[in-house]
Amino acid sequence: MAKGRVLVVDDEKLIRWSLEHNLSREGYEVVCTDCGEKAVSTVDSEIVDLVILDVRLPDITGVEVLEKIRGFKRDIPVVMITADDAVKTAVACMKAGACDYMIKPFDFDELKVIIEKSLEDASLKSEFRRMRNDLEAESQFENIIGESERMREVFRIITRVACSDATTVLLYGESGTGKDLVARAIHYGSARKEKPLIEINCAALPETLLESELMGYEKGAFTDAKAARKGYFELADGGTIYLDEIGEMNVSMQAKLLRIIENKRFKRLGGTEDIEVDVRIIAATNSDLTAAVSEGNFRKDLYYRLKVIPVELPPLKEHRDDIPALIDFFITRFNREFKRIIRGISPEAQKLLVDYHWPGNVRELKNVIERAIILECDELILAEHLPSEIRGDQISREISQEIEFNFPSGGMSLDKLEASLLKRALSMSENNQTKAARLLGLGRDALRYRMKKTGLL
Ligand SMILES: Nc1ncnc2c1ncn2[C@@H]1O[C@H](COP(=O)(O)OP(=O)(O)OP(=O)(O)O)[C@@H](O)[C@H]1O
Ligand SMILES: [Mg+2]
Repeated sequence: MAKGRVLVVDDEKLIRWSLEHNLSREGYEVVCTDCGEKAVSTVDSEIVDLVILDVRLPDITGVEVLEKIRGFKRDIPVVMITADDAVKTAVACMKAGACDYMIKPFDFDELKVIIEKSLEDASLKSEFRRMRNDLEAESQFENIIGESERMREVFRIITRVACSDATTVLLYGESGTGKDLVARAIHYGSARKEKPLIEINCAALPETLLESELMGYEKGAFTDAKAARKGYFELADGGTIYLDEIGEMNVSMQAKLLRIIENKRFKRLGGTEDIEVDVRIIAATNSDLTAAVSEGNFRKDLYYRLKVIPVELPPLKEHRDDIPALIDFFITRFNREFKRIIRGISPEAQKLLVDYHWPGNVRELKNVIERAIILECDELILAEHLPSEIRGDQISREISQEIEFNFPSGGMSLDKLEASLLKRALSMSENNQTKAARLLGLGRDALRYRMKKTGLL
């Protein structure tokens, strides 16, 4: 297979011939043309991976050709070749969007390296764009499912935030409730969408690294700083920084963050110059920040600054009426992804899902549907295709309705009660832990944890 299709545009027959000859030998497919208009129409109508373009052509200039190409194919790499070595020609080429230029007579080996590098850059760029487009498509507001009052409230705030200039947003909610999804939706739904969205998990980076990654550094700021580097705040200028697990940020970095938010400027580590940035901060947490504030682990001033626009993502069990729509949404998505044709879900299975307590929230629901579609069902998701803890929930609810529990007037020990319930469940299921766990509406791991805690294991 050819390494790529290269269009050579030059009015000199000899150059066309020599480039065609050399490039074909290197494994490229080569097409040639001798004038500008033909070059433009070839790029427009055929697959071309790279253009080698002479600056002086008989009809229109190479720079004009390049400008026309940029009008419809923004990213195709174009290498200019020119007979004159005037700086102004080079500048005009680069300004018009050439990826490089060479002066005739040129060395073919040098051109070869430039072509390889340009094609590699272009493929990286298009891969990056594809990923970004996927992410953007996935994070459209219409892909956030929820018609319940709780979710409507979320939509009301985030649509308003996305259109506004408000720079900080605090998302909070349990794990799996959609904080990442909402953060991306805010970015891609805002005027900042063409600028970067940089996502940082504050828990994943050690303190010192987090600071240098965010603020960048000057050469020599610390031992390893061999050259100056821009930080995320600079790179995200005009866009959004998503600080996930903000509760894990250390207190001194919190102070710096607050200063950056308030002053919209900062200095690189080891730097003296103020750098001005316009960045929206979306912070997220699944832990209770008020507790961290009262324990002194989170700065009150930063908390209040972030909390100006708070968005609470409710736990799934608090908006169960959205579950049927979420199920449909995930069935459609996984049918497409895994090329399946599951029609839907039985009313019984749907009821189990609506009634379950969803400790892992929407992420857990998504995983349950994915598993059922990949591993379990043929055309309809049935109760038997659901994991035992979900079916178990139903069983334990039935049992709990039967229990007539009289609370002893003298009080009781919850630990002892737990131990006795565990024993009862184990004996009812002949010591089969999986069955006992199901009776108690637990997973097997959770049961074993409780057995250890109460000394039964
Ligand atoms: N309302 C929703 N509609 C559709 N998909 C959703 C919704 N909420 C969450 N999801 C999906 O559930 C999964 C988990 O969501 P996300 O990663 O945004 O959660 P999170 O709150 O950031 O969790 P964590 O705190 O664990 O990082 C993702 O695949 C997301 O697309
Ligand atoms: Mg998250």
